[in-house]
Amino acid sequence: MKEDVLIFGGNSFLAKAFNDKYKDAYAIHNVYRNDQTKQLNFDFESDDTESINNKLNGNYKAVLFFQGLNPSVGAKDIDVEHFSRMLKVNLVTPTLLIKNLAGKLSEGALVLFISSVAKKKGSYDPAYGSAKAGLIGLMHSLANAYNQLRFNVVSLGLVENSPVFNNMTEDFRQKHAGRMFNDEFIKVEDVINIVAELINNKSINRADIEIDGGYN
Ligand SMILES: NC(=O)c1ccc[n+]([C@@H]2O[C@H](COP(=O)([O-])OP(=O)(O)OC[C@H]3O[C@@H](n4cnc5c(N)ncnc54)[C@H](OP(=O)(O)O)[C@@H]3O)[C@@H](O)[C@H]2O)c1
Repeated sequence: MKEDVLIFGGNSFLAKAFNDKYKDAYAIHNVYRNDQTKQLNFDFESDDTESINNKLNGNYKAVLFFQGLNPSVGAKDIDVEHFSRMLKVNLVTPTLLIKNLAGKLSEGALVLFISSVAKKKGSYDPAYGSAKAGLIGLMHSLANAYNQLRFNVVSLGLVENSPVFNNMTEDFRQKHAGRMFNDEFIKVEDVINIVAELINNKSINRADIEIDGGYN
């Protein structure tokens, strides 16, 4: 029988790539923000984690948090609403979901968060940079609390053909490429291969794996 993998952000670029490659290997349960054609929906801005929890009953081998908000508000325009929303989607709601879900994960299951090179270089959007840096502290804190589970982070450089990539000017893309190995963008296939490895490799716990072409 296929093992169960739970994905939040089911419509994300990473989730689609993971589903394409691993749909035969795992029973993948995708949770969408709001897609009424799908069974599982949950908005990370909502406080009602109980309702989605009641619909999730697998013995999950992994929970992949692929939801996220792209950087969109600069430091000089920042407001409470945007900052709070970013922290809620990246940090607060994942914590509350794990509180409910922990008992539904198999021994040694992977909980994976996706951070960004912005955690070390900053972002024009301070809410984004802070939330992505915060994921490292969150990973260690949850690992302290739920020691039967493995918590890991992958921190990404700019992923080729993703929505954030497609919405950037060519000039801005080249600024990213110029700071990564061989002037190349991150390939989504390389990211999901590492995700698949993390699901099975029980020696890896509390790691922050940087897939950013050595961005400097
Ligand atoms: N792509 C990159 O270059 C890159 C680089 C560094 C880090 N990352 C991080 O990697 C993760 C995945 O990236 P990606 O490029 O695959 O993302 P993406 O394609 O932009 O998708 C983001 C997903 O998050 C969902 N989402 C946003 N707000 C939500 C909410 N309130 N509740 C539930 N779902 C919500 C969106 O749902 P809808 O489909 O409904 O809009 C969307 O499916 C994100 O955390 C991103 O910050 C990406």
